Amino acid sequence: MTESITITDNRTGETLEIPIENGGVSAAAWQKLLPGLWFYDPGFVSTAACESAITYLDGEAGILRYRGYGIEELAEHSTYLEVAYLLLNGELPNPAQFEAWRHEITHHTFIHENVRKRFLDGFHYDAHPMGMLVSAVAALSTFYLDAKQIFDVESRHKQIIRLIAKMPTLAAAAHRFSVGMPFVYPDNSLEFTSNFLSMMWKTAEPRFDANPALARALDILFILHADHEQNCSTTAMRTVGSSHADPYSACAAACAALYGPRHGGANEAVIRMLTEIGSIENVEPFVASVKAGTGGRLQGFGHRVYKSYDPRAKIIKRTADEVFEITGKNPLLDIALKLEEIALQDEYFTSRKLYPNVDFYSGLIYQAMGFPLEMFPVLFAIPRTAGWLAHWQEMLDQDSKIARPRQLYIGAEQRPYVPMGERG
Ligand code: CMC
Repeated sequence: MTESITITDNRTGETLEIPIENGGVSAAAWQKLLPGLWFYDPGFVSTAACESAITYLDGEAGILRYRGYGIEELAEHSTYLEVAYLLLNGELPNPAQFEAWRHEITHHTFIHENVRKRFLDGFHYDAHPMGMLVSAVAALSTFYLDAKQIFDVESRHKQIIRLIAKMPTLAAAAHRFSVGMPFVYPDNSLEFTSNFLSMMWKTAEPRFDANPALARALDILFILHADHEQNCSTTAMRTVGSSHADPYSACAAACAALYGPRHGGANEAVIRMLTEIGSIENVEPFVASVKAGTGGRLQGFGHRVYKSYDPRAKIIKRTADEVFEITGKNPLLDIALKLEEIALQDEYFTSRKLYPNVDFYSGLIYQAMGFPLEMFPVLFAIPRTAGWLAHWQEMLDQDSKIARPRQLYIGAEQRPYVPMGERG
């Protein structure tokens, strides 16, 4: 079998053979035969915009791997910080490398006082923490002018450390502000996730020690959310990064993309949907309304890439049980389980290959742990920062082109300007 495709321009009879490489065909080769004729692909459903060695995803088989390591093994044996190192460096760290990495991250968790006092404190009292995070990440670029040296290896490394280390601090600061609680400084004696929980929940105690099982559960959620190849926010990171903007500005764009309910806002939408359903008896009529097109979408179901059960959702379901043993069961769980059971037996959902995605159960865990709904996308942004930065770095090393797609123009033909007084 020849690993290639042949295309024919029926207008001229000309043909061109293009080799299939790494599961794709080169659009540059296509352009040789058909200059000025563009692929029409809204939402980039069939377009690979880059080559990447970071995350492997097989949506049909439900496989997710970071740098070749299965997500299940990483969730069981690894930590978020180790996974962040893996994503960025391509290999798991040895003990000395990990210790140096952990030390660097731990010692860059503080934010400039002005970020908090002048910038974050300036928000309206009821500002959404994700809106605050988007802005605060962008603002960091004005504090680190060396961030513009994106091809200086040392500067790049410094910004990567700063971003990964400061995300939890900014995230917790946004939450504390939105509930009128004083800011909690990072505690360098704590691990990454425990430190975040301390900044979230500490009140008058000299040291906040999170329940280790809850800290571990959150760390697992961080591992599962650390990367997911060319999703909407990572594409935003790569797109803005391709203009050679500094990483804080690119990361703010990625955070903004993550804010939307079709992406990082989906687990918040799941909780709102389950709350609205209210009781198990209402599940069937709700599913019927989704199918009839009157009840909106089944939040937390479906995925652009996964056409079978999202492997992250399987791990999260297990983690949920462990968390509920400590926090008590989230009362919405029974509704979620019933909804899943009905949907998985329903031809509407099975024929469209709609299965629970990562967000179907993650919100239930966050809620049981005490996080307000508004914090859900923020909790997603903390670990995804590692993935965004890994892609940004990979893109710069590939000397990629600036992202600049084409369009198929469907607007008016040329027409003369009409003075305002002569318009109907
Ligand atoms: N509930 C009901 N029907 C759905 C759903 C859903 N959640 N998702 C897709 N469909 C239907 C859709 O109506 C369409 O039906 P038809 O062919 O009859 O018109 C068909 O399935 C294909 O849908 P699509 O919109 O073409 O699929 P997409 O790949 O563009 O959308 C998605 C993917 C995730 C945006 C979508 O499934 C969705 O809106 N899901 C709910 C929101 C959600 O859970 N998002 C989190 C995604 S996972 C986290 C992340 O990676 O950010």
